[in-house]
This record gives sequence, C-alpha cells and structure tokens, in this order.
Amino acid sequence: MSDQSIESAMQENRVFPPPPEVSAKAWIKSRQQYDQMYRESIDRPDDFWGKIAGELHWFKKWDRVLEWNLPNAKWFVGGKTNVAYNCLDFQIEKGRGEKIAILWEGENGDVRRVTYRQLREDVCRLANGLKKLGVKKGTRVTIYMPMVPEAAVAMLACARLGAPHSVIFGGFSSQAIADRVDDAKSEIVITADGGRRRGQLVPLKHNVDEAAKKTALIKKVIVFKHTAEPIGWTEGRDVWWSDVVAGQSAACDAEPLDAEDPLFVLYTSGSTGKPKGIVHTTGGFLVGTYITTKYVFDLHDQDIYWCTADVGWITGHSYVVYGPLANGTTSLMYEGAPNFPDFSRFWAIIARHKVTVFYTAPTAIRAFMRAGRQLVDGHDLSSLRILGTVGEPINPEAWMWYHRVIGGERCPIVDTWWQTETGATMMAPIPGVTATKPGSCTKPLPGIFADIVDEDGRPVKTADAGGYLVIKRPWPSMLRTIWGDNERYIKTYWEKFKNHYYVAGDSARRDKDGYYWIMGRIDDVLNIAGHRLGTMEIESALVAHPKVAEAAVVSKPHDIKGESAFAYVVLNVPRPQGAAAKALIDELRAWVGDQLSPIAKPDEIRLTDNLPKTRSGKIMRRLLRAV
Ligand code: WT7
Repeated sequence: MSDQSIESAMQENRVFPPPPEVSAKAWIKSRQQYDQMYRESIDRPDDFWGKIAGELHWFKKWDRVLEWNLPNAKWFVGGKTNVAYNCLDFQIEKGRGEKIAILWEGENGDVRRVTYRQLREDVCRLANGLKKLGVKKGTRVTIYMPMVPEAAVAMLACARLGAPHSVIFGGFSSQAIADRVDDAKSEIVITADGGRRRGQLVPLKHNVDEAAKKTALIKKVIVFKHTAEPIGWTEGRDVWWSDVVAGQSAACDAEPLDAEDPLFVLYTSGSTGKPKGIVHTTGGFLVGTYITTKYVFDLHDQDIYWCTADVGWITGHSYVVYGPLANGTTSLMYEGAPNFPDFSRFWAIIARHKVTVFYTAPTAIRAFMRAGRQLVDGHDLSSLRILGTVGEPINPEAWMWYHRVIGGERCPIVDTWWQTETGATMMAPIPGVTATKPGSCTKPLPGIFADIVDEDGRPVKTADAGGYLVIKRPWPSMLRTIWGDNERYIKTYWEKFKNHYYVAGDSARRDKDGYYWIMGRIDDVLNIAGHRLGTMEIESALVAHPKVAEAAVVSKPHDIKGESAFAYVVLNVPRPQGAAAKALIDELRAWVGDQLSPIAKPDEIRLTDNLPKTRSGKIMRRLLRAV
C-alpha cells in the first residue's frame, strides 16, 4: 500500500464505540463476556475450540482437538464430519428446510430463491451424477462458473463426496485454467456456457475449450446452461449439467470424512511465477468459517447477509458459501458488476432484498465514493445493521464514507484481516463489543495468537513500531500444505523465524491500545483491487511474449484499486517509437490479460533498453519503484 495511507492511518484518532442497540441483540454482548471467552481461548485453547466444534454436526466425535508437530497441525483428530451435511442436512434438521439458503440476483434482474431443502436436492442430484461419472473421495474437480447458485451446488456436491474442488475465478484466462488443472491433476471440469458481467457475456465454456488445447488432462466437461449462447461442443467429452442430473435421486448420503481430509484446493499468488494450491481441510475449515461468520457478522436467523465476493476467491468460499450456510443464514449472491447498469446497483439490491449485513472490499467502496453519493440517495438502506470490509487496508476516508453514507452512522464496520491461507478471519472487531478505529482491523479474535516481530523473530513491544505479522499457534482453518509441494509450504510460511511462527507476508504495527494496523505486503505480491497478484507471475506472462526479453513489475499507488502494476519491459527486437510503441504496449497489456486475467494487466508499460540489476543479476525493484 502507499505510504500515504500508512501516514493518514497514523494520524487516525477517531474511535467508534459499539452501538448499544447492536450490543443488546448480539451473540457477544459485553466486554465481560468477551474477556471470559478470550481468557479461555488463551489458557485452554483445546477446550475453547472443542466447545465451538461441538456446535456442529459430527458423525464421530474427535479424539483429540489438536495434534501439533511443528509446523504440521492436525485438528479434531479422529473426528468424522461432512461440510455439506453441516450446511444442508443439519440446517434442515434444525427446522430451516423452507428457509432461503441462497437468494440470487442475476445481472439482468432475474431473482431466484433457493431453500435449504431445494439446495440439498440439487446438491444430491449433482453428487449422484458426479459419482456416475467416476468422481469419488479424493477426485479433484475443477469448477469454473459464473456467480449462480449452481456454483455453490457444485462446491457442495464435491464436499458431499469428499472430492476436493478447485474453483477458478471466472475472470481467469484459459492459460490459468490449464495451469491449475495440470497442477491439481484434475480431469473433470464443471463450467457454464457463459456468465454475465457488465452487460457482456463471459465465454466460460469457450475458455475451457481453449484450456483443453493447452492440457491433455481434461476428460469431462459438465456444462450448466445459463446464458444459452451458442457454444462449441466436443462429443464424448462435454455433457450438459441437465443430463448429468437427469433421473438422479434427490438423496445422496454425505460421506463421513476424516476431519483432516482435504475439502478444497484454491490457487493464489505468491512470490514466484507459479501460483500455489492452498489446501484446506474438512473439520478445521468448517469450524473456523462457522464461528467467525457467526461472531464477526453477528448473524441471527432473520438476517439477509450479502458478501459481494466471487466464489472464485477465498472470500467466496468462506463467506458466500460455507460460513453462512453452516450458520443456516440466507446468503445473497449477485451475478454481475457493481456498476451495472450504474454504480447504484448495490444500493438497489440492498433496498430490494432488505439486506441486513453487507460485506465488501475497500476498492469497491472507493469506486462508489468516486461515483458520488447521489447514486446512494433515494435507496432505502435502513435494513442494514452491520458492514464489513476485506482484502486490503481501508483508508480512513473511505471508512468514514462507508460509515456515514452507507451505514447511516448506526452500523458497526468490521474490518476483517485474513488470507487465502488462514481460511477464516483472524483479526476483526466483534460488533457488539469492540470500539472501532477507521483503518484498523482492531484485534486478534479469540483463539488467534497474533503478534508483531522484528527481523530476529523478537516481539515488537514499542507502540506503533512496525514489524512482521506472525501467528504463533495453529488455528483450525489454517492451510495444511501447498498442493504437491510441502517443501514450498514450509519454506514460505514457517521457516523465516527459528521459533517457527506462521509468517503472513504482511507488515503491521500495533498502537498503544493494542489495535493492529496492516501496513501492506512485504513480499513480491501486489494487491490490485483486493486481488492478490505476484509480480513474478505478471513478469512471466510478459516474457512469454515473443518480443519480450525481460520484464520487471513494480507496484504503483492507485486511487481506487489501491495498487496497480507498472511494468518495465526490455524487448528482443529494436525498440519501436511513437504510434508503433503505443501499439506494442497495447498488445502486451492484452497479452497479459489473455495469459493471466484482465485484473493483472499493467496500467502502464515502459519500454526500456535495460533494467537496473545487482551484481548477482537480480533486478533492483526498489530502484524501479522509486522511479
Ligand atoms: C492479503 C490476503 C482474505 C480475503 C481477501 C484477500 C490483505 C486482506 C485485509 C484487511 C488489510 C488486508 C493482506 C493479506 N488483506 N484483508 N482487512 N486489512 N489488509 O485474500 O488474496 O489471500 O490476500 O490481503 O495483505 O495478506 P488474499
């Protein structure tokens, strides 16, 4: 993040106590209740987590809460459970069969309401259909879907069978699909003909067809008909979703899975060119997302909860699908763009469906701010009671706008710090208890042993002094490994300090009240509009272009996106001038969009004759950033 935002955060002294009407109705009502819970989580963590796990459904109770052989942790050892059972059957048993599980709004205005009972039927039919295609416990299934209820159906069907899913964000290109399919060795892909985004059709099936030219692994493609646009078809490989589920029973036993069986793999960027397959397991992920959804959003039965993330990101996994459904919540899912047909769309959705809890990203908030408050006025937002943010530090100005204009000064804002790797929120306010400060994710949640340490792993005690953000003890929803590369897992997360702390990759400071302020990434990772992108990944995409010899990507502050990518490129052909240079730059930007994703396109590309390097040949990014 920009120095500017760190500075303004430094000067931030405003404090917003929890509104009494929020505290009165909250799960955690008072400081005293919170402190007691916190104490227990520190003094007797196993009892604390065991109690929470006990609120969920287990086919067989665990023998031990935690088995910790640094850096490998196992949670709820010996326990058998199933995430889909918890999200569906367990809710129906509690009397929520006719409650809306997924409330969907399409970009074209269509609305669908799927009850818990219907959702279970859809999930079971697909699970039975998948079984017939040979999917069983352990089979990796790739999911490349638009934001439609069937994306959740596909995830839950996999979870029901114990087949780890690998969801790929619908904005990723065919090359990204092929790379992930290859890495996960996933022969089956679930997709749709297309999706709708900003009034345009996203050619999902076409992208899978292109991916299938880049990897020989794809054997089956299940296609959900959504936009009904014409698509290509490969006989023997492609099959319609409707044909897969036709004639299948609406009942399918949930596989009793080991708590440590993988639930999914999700790829995220790191500091090398190759994305990492983050592995999450069944029991721990369920417990972590369940409890954080309940306490941080303070969800109750009548809430209409909306997390705007796409299911292709971890936020969509944890807080659109699994966390909310494990709480029996109505989770709203919106298919399209925030600015379609204009920037009032979100406010219209909140008013139309009486959304009570709303969770979005700072980059979106800044875009709304820029668009102007006249787009908010006229929409009744009085149903809202809690607001949330995630993905990057929120600048106090955007926080205040969110608080005033969207929250009407009555809704607590929960700024949630977490990562793909942590699975669930690690630091955030508890709405009925924690006083908030604009720009701070406040404090670690109960059960989370966060700290800030110096280069030698020693805790930084001085208020406001920066350092490495670490987690000192395992937590249930932590990643277990990187798919197929346990060495990289240990190296990336556990080896920086000899005391084996989990290294988040963020720097942070703690103020005199013990509040944490995230300062940004310390590795070669950019955060563009809340999306994580490795500089190396963008560089690899650039050098894959036939005319590019070398590339260096650095971060540049951006008003709305937070950060943007700035690329220096050395060509292996004579450097063009004027219009020809401009044309090549446009071509390179489009190329990166094609290779990775439109999000990864550098905002600016500078063609240059050489890059500054150290004597050992490393590119001096610090110098380039300064330029
Ligand atoms: C990185 C994780 C967690 C879901 C979305 C992103 C940054 C995330 C916050 C926050 C400041 C934040 C960190 C983190 N980040 N939330 N509330 N305040 N920074 O997931 O792609 O795994 O990225 O996003 O830098 O390490 P991700």
